[in-house]
Amino acid sequence: MDNFVINGVKSVSGNISISGSKNAALPILISSLLTKEKVEIENVPKLRDIQSTLELLNYLGKKCSFTSNKFVISENHSLKHHAPYDLVRKMRASILVAGPLLARFKQARFSLPGGCTIGVRPVDIHLESFKKLGAHISYSGGDVVISAKHLKAARVKLKFPSVGATENLMMCAVLIEGETVIENCAKEPEIKDFADCLRNMGALIEGAGSSTIKIMGVKKLTGVKYSVMPDRIETGTFMILSAAVQGEINLLNTSCKNLAVVSKCLERSGVKIKDCGNSVKIISSGKRPKPVSFKTAPYPGFPTDLQAVWLAYMCRAKGKSAIHESIFENRFMHVGELLRMGAKITVTEDKAVITGVDRLKGAPIMASDIRAGAALIVAASAASGKSTLRRVYHIDRGYDGIEEKMRSVGFKIIRKKG
Ligand code: UD1
Repeated sequence: MDNFVINGVKSVSGNISISGSKNAALPILISSLLTKEKVEIENVPKLRDIQSTLELLNYLGKKCSFTSNKFVISENHSLKHHAPYDLVRKMRASILVAGPLLARFKQARFSLPGGCTIGVRPVDIHLESFKKLGAHISYSGGDVVISAKHLKAARVKLKFPSVGATENLMMCAVLIEGETVIENCAKEPEIKDFADCLRNMGALIEGAGSSTIKIMGVKKLTGVKYSVMPDRIETGTFMILSAAVQGEINLLNTSCKNLAVVSKCLERSGVKIKDCGNSVKIISSGKRPKPVSFKTAPYPGFPTDLQAVWLAYMCRAKGKSAIHESIFENRFMHVGELLRMGAKITVTEDKAVITGVDRLKGAPIMASDIRAGAALIVAASAASGKSTLRRVYHIDRGYDGIEEKMRSVGFKIIRKKG
């Protein structure tokens, strides 16, 4: 297993190019199951989760190639309808195959993903939604089996705006005759990008990006050429990472239009941000940040995926800040590692209170999930001395070439192959 050796830095400057969005690319690639025709997707980030998607689609019978950030998918055989445990275990988003398989073949089977380090993560909203469309759900050998004689359009109100359930339901509804309305759906920008891709395949979708999506089913979808939006979580991570050290960083091929709350928090902490349309400049004050508190929330609120990174940033704030995690029940796994670097944090249930210290100290640390890993990179880069970060494979699931990008602007990070 690879490690990162990270030394604290005082100042960085230069340009970093932002990759395509992981959370938009995953449903977009999986939506290729809705058509027999060729699908070509550009600006796909090179990530372990994308590799897992390639393996999953190949397993199901698609033929995929992935070179130079371009993913090409064709279909020469009949497809399997089952996402097995070994593939779902690696990546929860594998359950997104259920929607398109159900729509096309009236049957789908996927292994129950089980818990993970950030929480129990049930799939009840996905399953309740499929039931509303006329599907029958049963369980066999740890798998969920979904089947339908006839799927019917319906009005479905989600009890929580789940990103994955919204996407699964959209993929099922696009091929069901009549109008399906999804209420209280997720409003994340990735949903809008995903809907734009589906529309390019011939789907009739209105309202993506708002809390009600209307879908008029069509008989079939066509192939498509589409380019994935920039990764807003990678953008936010680099914005916060740059703020945590002194300097001036330009993030290219992205904007912070989908990161309004995060930008506001950064500005309140003392950082200057210039959105230049297709790039974002972060100018840090060089001083310890001012404390900024918030509660995570579905979009447009503060994203849970940047909570850990922000918490690491606040470890050096001049004063006390509080972070309330409202999306996942166990998303403070990074706190134990930060304490070992000298941070002062107390956690009570879903709230962390951070009392800033002048400087963290490098230490051996371990990533427990993608975003906790990114948080530890922020902490180690702003600390004095050397840190060795283990379980880098978590970070490789969500950040494309993070160490090369960081080194190009002066961060001190090297990968030790294990
Ligand atoms: C997606 C993102 C992930 C992000 C999360 C929340 C992808 C590939 N991943 O994950 O990076 O952190 O949104 O913004 O896009 N829930 C249920 N029942 C369900 C489904 C979800 O109770 O059937 C709960 C979850 O346990 C969690 C909350 O709803 O507490 C949000 O989950 P959801 O929006 O579904 O997240 P994902 O789609 O898994």
